[in-house]
Amino acid sequence: MSKAGRLVVLVSGSGTNLQALLDASADPAYGARVVAVGADREGIEGLARAERAGIPTFVEKVGDHADRAAWDAAIAARIAEHKPGLVVSAGFMKILGAPTLEAFAVLNTHPALLPSFPGAHGVRDALAHGVKVTGCTVMLADAGVDTGPIIAQEAVRVFHGDDEAMLHERIKTVERGLLVEIVGRMAREGWAVKGRTVIIGGES
Ligand code: GRF
Repeated sequence: MSKAGRLVVLVSGSGTNLQALLDASADPAYGARVVAVGADREGIEGLARAERAGIPTFVEKVGDHADRAAWDAAIAARIAEHKPGLVVSAGFMKILGAPTLEAFAVLNTHPALLPSFPGAHGVRDALAHGVKVTGCTVMLADAGVDTGPIIAQEAVRVFHGDDEAMLHERIKTVERGLLVEIVGRMAREGWAVKGRTVIIGGES
């Protein structure tokens, strides 16, 4: 496995995207494996999934630090302990600061077709707007809210009668598959960033 295949996954909730990565990495041919799972809160299913899989975990709560800058430095230091090739923000509900973004490539996943409906309520906002197609986006994280270079997107139809939970579940099914595909390809083939374009392996 290349260094790029060492994944630190950050979670804040149920961790089904994390689980998809754990399941994929059971096959050595996948080329990536989760070496640690970090969270910004305790008592979440995402951490329990990591513990069941025997993966080291860490928690850094913003409230345990004097200010956001101190948290930014602390979480970057915790991530660095595990020497990741890629950090995957998978349902992690915090914007990462410069100490993490400058030290590591950070992949983020979002349950809408960016640049539409960024932020914490992408599914709710898309539904409220009345779109007929939404989806998911895998991107590199930057300092903004869901503004980084887009790597891949998949569309999901909105059905009459959908509520936020129903639509989010359908999106998450697609999102997990896309995240697993992109992380594996980046780990196996490498990547380069040119402006807002992310080129994986020999892709042009
Ligand atoms: C995903 O849809 C992610 O894009 C969003 O929250 C969800 C996390 O799901 N930010 P899970 O914790 O991986 O199950």
